[in-house]
Amino acid sequence: MNRRTFFKLSWGTVGLAALVSAIGVSLAAVVRFLMPSVFYEPPQAFKIGTPGDFAFGAPQFLVEEKIYVFHDRDKGFSVASAVCTHLGCTVAHFQSDEKFHCPCHGSVFAADGSVQHGPAPRALDWFEVTLARDGQLRVDKNKVVPPTYRLMV
Ligand code: FES
Repeated sequence: MNRRTFFKLSWGTVGLAALVSAIGVSLAAVVRFLMPSVFYEPPQAFKIGTPGDFAFGAPQFLVEEKIYVFHDRDKGFSVASAVCTHLGCTVAHFQSDEKFHCPCHGSVFAADGSVQHGPAPRALDWFEVTLARDGQLRVDKNKVVPPTYRLMV
């Protein structure tokens, strides 16, 4: 192989490698563009424990699920969303006035979740709670129920 042939082959190889890598990068960009950018949410239906795990009286706040679980001796179980309907802050439930207060912009929700003081545009959601076959309470955030909904166990 003489010097001229060697340089022809070298430049040819470099050019081919550059072309292949450019096509590869372009294809990767196209594939990434076609893939949806999806945020995976936690499951909307989940078990929260057995009825015995929830004492009567003050609601129990489940941090990760952002719900309040009420266990009334006479009325049974009910589950309220802890997500403010204004901009999604987590509301706090006060036993002293039995209301939900949003720390972000001051919305106040009555015991049944209805808006008493804005800027929240609508009431808090209440979710269906059922008893699963294994004896655990199951909450389904996809099923919004009236605030009067109760599960007697
Ligand atoms: S997020 Fe609750 S009042 Fe604004």
